Amino acid sequence: MLTRRPRRNRQSATIRQLVQETHLHLQDFIYPVFVTEGTQQPVEISSMPGIYRHSLDSLLKEIESCLEKGITAFAPFPQLPEAKKDKYAQESYRAGSLYLETIRQIKARFPEACLFTDVAMDPYSSDGHDGIVEAGTILNDETLEVLGKMAVAQAQAGADVVAPSDMMDGRVGYLRAALDQAGFQQVAIMAYTAKYASAFYGPFRDALDSAPKSGDKKTYQMDPANQREALIEAELDFTEGADFMMVKPALAYLDVISLLKQHFDIPIAAYNVSGEYAMIKAAAQNNWLDGERIMWESLLSIKRAGASIILSYFAKEVADLLDRS
Ligand code: PBG
Repeated sequence: MLTRRPRRNRQSATIRQLVQETHLHLQDFIYPVFVTEGTQQPVEISSMPGIYRHSLDSLLKEIESCLEKGITAFAPFPQLPEAKKDKYAQESYRAGSLYLETIRQIKARFPEACLFTDVAMDPYSSDGHDGIVEAGTILNDETLEVLGKMAVAQAQAGADVVAPSDMMDGRVGYLRAALDQAGFQQVAIMAYTAKYASAFYGPFRDALDSAPKSGDKKTYQMDPANQREALIEAELDFTEGADFMMVKPALAYLDVISLLKQHFDIPIAAYNVSGEYAMIKAAAQNNWLDGERIMWESLLSIKRAGASIILSYFAKEVADLLDRS
């Protein structure tokens, strides 16, 4: 006689729904979007089918259609022409720059859109790095000054949450102080806490032309082999005042998501990055996998691991799927 028969709880759709531990809601998602100069048609990113680089006018339409679907949180990223990049990423805080103007116009048109803005030098850096490069070294404390100006400029433009994706030491505390000093106590910080030196960012760097011109990001992004080190980053971000912690990428780092969830009581986010999206899309296009089911299963795993917030290029497809079911 079997006393415990786990299958009893799987015997009907209703029971399965009752015992379902993890649910995905559209409200869990932040949708990353790309903005570029000009007024041209949106251009699809070849390695990210269904994802586009938008000019500002087209991005506003995209935001509007997302809001209609119920997506209310966005993470915009800018693509700049080489001519606007320099060693010190000065374009990142120039009043009237494409990115700041994008933030300003989105908030003016759609105050209900919540904007998580990117604080990092790489889209603006002629070196393609997240920090100032001097003789092959990424300078930490000098970079903080640039990040501080960038974050304050974004807050001024209307950012709800600034999201430092640079991995410089001390940046959360530095940004918190800079924001407070400028009167932006209410602007939150979502720290890219455990951001790994990952090959999964490939399609994103193509999308933004932001790949490092020389070297790699291993002196600031974390080693994929390390888990416990994420606790050090997390402890620092927490004490320095982060409101959200993020793990990035997501799928190859579910253990890290789970670890941070166990140790910290602030919301944990995970970035389901470009390469994770591209892999599923490529396999689905070949009919090697059922793309929609793989998407759902992957996103569920991220939430189950402990992320209550997911940045994902799949957000619109999630909206459509939830709408149908
Ligand atoms: C850099 C940044 C990267 C991503 C977001 N911000 C790439 C990198 O570190 O080179 C990647 C996002 C993705 O792959 O979807 N500040």
